[in-house]
Amino acid sequence: MSNDRIRIFFASDIHGSEVCFKKFLNAGEFYKCDVIILGGDITGKFIVPVYDFGDYYVCKVGGREEVLKSKEELERTLQKIRDLGSYPYLTNRELWDNIVKDSSKMEEVFNKLVIESVERWIKYAEAKLSNKKVKCYIMPGNDDSYSIDSVLDSSNVIVNPNEKIIHLTDKVQMLSLGYSNITPWKCPRDIPEEEIEEKIARLMNKVDRNSILLYCIHVPPYDSGIDSAPELDENMKPRVGPGGQLMVKPVGSKAVRKSIEIHQPLLSLHGHIHEARGFSKIGKTLCFNPGSEYHEGILRGVLIQLEKNKIRDFIFTSG
Ligand SMILES: [Fe+2]
Repeated sequence: MSNDRIRIFFASDIHGSEVCFKKFLNAGEFYKCDVIILGGDITGKFIVPVYDFGDYYVCKVGGREEVLKSKEELERTLQKIRDLGSYPYLTNRELWDNIVKDSSKMEEVFNKLVIESVERWIKYAEAKLSNKKVKCYIMPGNDDSYSIDSVLDSSNVIVNPNEKIIHLTDKVQMLSLGYSNITPWKCPRDIPEEEIEEKIARLMNKVDRNSILLYCIHVPPYDSGIDSAPELDENMKPRVGPGGQLMVKPVGSKAVRKSIEIHQPLLSLHGHIHEARGFSKIGKTLCFNPGSEYHEGILRGVLIQLEKNKIRDFIFTSG
């Protein structure tokens, strides 16, 4: 990386998919990048119980019951569950039934599995990227519990850029924020618009006015086209229009949009809305959302080349 040229790979919303995380770590070498950034919602949402019957195991993967008769079959299936973004949990029917009945016990087990998986991912990152030139930034998103922060912060190979101004070079700096405005699901890092505005304002006070500014903010700007999500009815089901088409509406952050309009960063990286892959211009700022297809094991990303304080080129990737 010279001060004039930086090649950035950005992906987001892999929601626990281990195969997508490994693809993300490989992206630096594969796309010959200087910087790789994961923009939030890195942890999964579900536990898959794997029942231990002594000489065989039973679990449900993708709605199908599987009987695993050897250690090799078990290991293969545990990995398949992790690659789909869920957390396999070895247990027996009685223990699992007791966990299901007790929400605090369920929370404890879920949190333990999340932490263990992020710890394992950090080890993969350290094995892959130690002594490499590529810089790796991994940020939490609104879906991620605050408990993962200390794990991310414990690494000296990856950097958690959340709520920081990071200097990618001495001429390029990145303002990062891993939150969202309030969603219908009330996720751990959903915060009101006013708080997003305050957080950005606090970070803007630390910005070097002589350097190029980039944004990396989990939630996209409001009404930018890269924040269009299915409209939900009172039962949280997608609304369907008169012609049978899915109704969509903008759900991004008004505070993020306002900040982009005022401060005009060179580029602005976002995720959060999986189906709104694309780019959008707000004034002079080019905003990106690479989308997400983590449940298919596909890593969607965007590769951006900066040269002489300009965006020289960009391409969306899928693989
Ligand atoms: Fe999100």
